[in-house]
Amino acid sequence: MAEIAGYAYGKVPTSPVTLEDFELMKKSVLFGEEDVKYLQMSYEVVKDQVEAILDVWYGFVGSNPHLVASFTDKEGTPISDYLAAVRKRFGQWILDTARGEYDQKWLDYQHEIGLRHHRSKKCQTDGISSTENVPLRYLLLLVFPVTFTLKPFLASKGHSAEDVEKMYNAWLKSCLLQVTLWSYPYVKEGDF
Ligand code: HEM
Repeated sequence: MAEIAGYAYGKVPTSPVTLEDFELMKKSVLFGEEDVKYLQMSYEVVKDQVEAILDVWYGFVGSNPHLVASFTDKEGTPISDYLAAVRKRFGQWILDTARGEYDQKWLDYQHEIGLRHHRSKKCQTDGISSTENVPLRYLLLLVFPVTFTLKPFLASKGHSAEDVEKMYNAWLKSCLLQVTLWSYPYVKEGDF
């Protein structure tokens, strides 16, 4: 598979959140072995639908000026190279989320994704000039549209309604865990 520009999974510093902390986060959102099983079921379902899923998510962001603003230049024009570069990593993120292998490497990359939304590292990966920070409020709120719009894709391969619901729940919990990890650089030191 061709290398994805800026995708540094396995090559980033250690997360300040430990696997021990993460275990308690998983407990707090009722994420367990069953969720891993259903995420992995979803892998088979989504792996050949990644581009179609991204079309829906990019359509949503693109039709909301306050969201697409995070991808614009100083004049407020969307930077197509930026959108395209992020889209490739976003596609890989779908697969990484569905793989459900939430080990140290994964945890470290979650911290990196948080930094990349935050002013600490936004724009650095693609070397472009855009807004300096993705507002935390939108980061958190997008969990709903991202997971809700995934549902029809999860249901598109003939699984039972119960399986679809369980895959959906596992995705919802995973996205909640991830945006919580991503909030780390946004939160006052000591308050995470
Ligand atoms: C649940 C919500 C969200 C998910 C799952 C998500 C997912 C991602 C992923 C996977 C990446 C690429 C990470 C990498 O470099 O490997 C990314 C980057 C990015 N996202 Fe999000 N995102 C979310 C919310 C948002 C929101 C609300 C905005 C803006 C309104 C946003 C703007 C961006 C931008 C600008 C980048 C590029 C950051 C950079 O310069 O490196 N994201 N996002």
